[in-house]
Amino acid sequence: MTTVVLVTGANSGIGLALCERLLSQDVDGLQLCLACRNMRRAQAARCALLTSFPTAQVALLQLDTSSVSSVISAAREVKVRYNRLDYLYLNAGIMPNPQFDVKAFFKGLFSSNVITMFATGEGILTQKDDVTSEGLREVFATNLFGHFLLIRELEPLLCHEALTSQVIWTSSSNAHRSAFNLEDIQHFRGNQPYSSSKYASDLLSLALNTRYNKQGLYSSVICPGFVMTSLTYSVLPAFPALLWTLLMPLLWFIRFFTNTFTLTPYNGAEALMWLFGQSPESLDPKVKYHSLTSGLGNNYTQARKMDIDLETSEALYAKLLQLESDLKMKLEEKQI
Ligand SMILES: NC(=O)c1ccc[n+]([C@@H]2O[C@H](COP(=O)([O-])OP(=O)(O)OC[C@H]3O[C@@H](n4cnc5c(N)ncnc54)[C@H](OP(=O)(O)O)[C@@H]3O)[C@@H](O)[C@H]2O)c1
Repeated sequence: MTTVVLVTGANSGIGLALCERLLSQDVDGLQLCLACRNMRRAQAARCALLTSFPTAQVALLQLDTSSVSSVISAAREVKVRYNRLDYLYLNAGIMPNPQFDVKAFFKGLFSSNVITMFATGEGILTQKDDVTSEGLREVFATNLFGHFLLIRELEPLLCHEALTSQVIWTSSSNAHRSAFNLEDIQHFRGNQPYSSSKYASDLLSLALNTRYNKQGLYSSVICPGFVMTSLTYSVLPAFPALLWTLLMPLLWFIRFFTNTFTLTPYNGAEALMWLFGQSPESLDPKVKYHSLTSGLGNNYTQARKMDIDLETSEALYAKLLQLESDLKMKLEEKQI
C-alpha cells in the first residue's frame, strides 16, 4: 500500500515543515513529491530531508504555478509517474512587494479592531502585483489559478470510485471578502491581490467539493497562522534579521492574546498535518482549519466558519473554467 503526497512550494517555510512532519510520522509506503519552481532549492530541500530520513522516498518535480505551460507539463509528468494521488497540498504562494501601512497600523492599534489586525493583517498590508508572460496577474496565477489548473489536469489521478483523495489549500486569515471582486477575479484594479487570491481559494475549495465529492475528491482550506518565513520577512525588508530576533519575545508574548501567532513553520503546519489524519467525508466544506499555538506553546487545530457562499463560489468556478479554456486555446495557437 502506498500513499502518494504532492506538495507545491515544498522547498521552504511551511511546505518544507509539512514534509518533515509527514516523514517523521513514519507513514507506511509514503511517497513524497516536492513540486518546486527552483530545482536548486528543491534539491537542497530533498537533501536535508534525506539527511534526517535516509530511507524516505522523496521525488522532485519542476513546477512553476504562475505558468500555465509549466503546470501542464508538470501534470503530464505526474501522470507518467503515479497512478493516483492521495494528497495534493496546494501550498506555493507569494505576497510580492508588500507595503506595510504604518498609518493604518497606528490607527488600528488604538481601535477595538486591534486583535483582529494583529491576527489577520487586515487593513495594514497592500502589495504591488506584476503580470506574467502569459498575461495573468502574478499573485492570482501563482496562488490560485496555477493550482486550479493543476487539479483539473490531475483529475484522473484524484478522482476514483471507492477511494478518496484530498486537496488541501494553504489559505490565510488575510482572505477577506472585501478584497475580492467577482468582476475582477485577477485583481487588476485593487492593491490587495494576496487577500483576493486567498479569498478566491476559499471559494474555489467550496466549489470543488460541490463538483467532485461524488467522485471521491475532497477539498479543504487551512490558515497556518502568523509564521516567520521568507514571505513574512519580506513584509518589512528593512528590518535586519537581528531586529526580528529581538522582536521575538514580543511576538511570543502576543501569543497569550491571540493564538494565531504560531511563529514557526513546524507550528504553522499543524492544521495541514491534522487534515492528513482525517477522514475527508467528516470535514465541513464551509470551514477553514486554523493552526493555533497557545501561550504555553501547545499546538492545536480549530475549525472556523468562512465568510463564503455557494452562489459566489459557483460564479468564480465558471469564470476560472472560461479563463482556462481561453488560455489553452492561446497556447494551442502558439504551437501551430
Ligand atoms: N507565513 C505566514 O505567516 C503565512 C500566513 C498565511 C498563509 N501563508 C501561506 O503559506 C504558504 C507558504 O508560505 P510560507 O510562509 O511558507 O513562505 P515561503 O517560505 O516563502 O514559501 C513559499 C513557497 O512557495 C514557493 N513558490 C512561490 N512562487 C512559486 C511558483 N510560482 N511556483 C512554485 N512555487 C512557488 C516558494 O518557492 P521559491 O523558494 O522558489 O520562492 C516557496 O517554496 C503560502 O501560500 C502563503 O501564502 C503564510
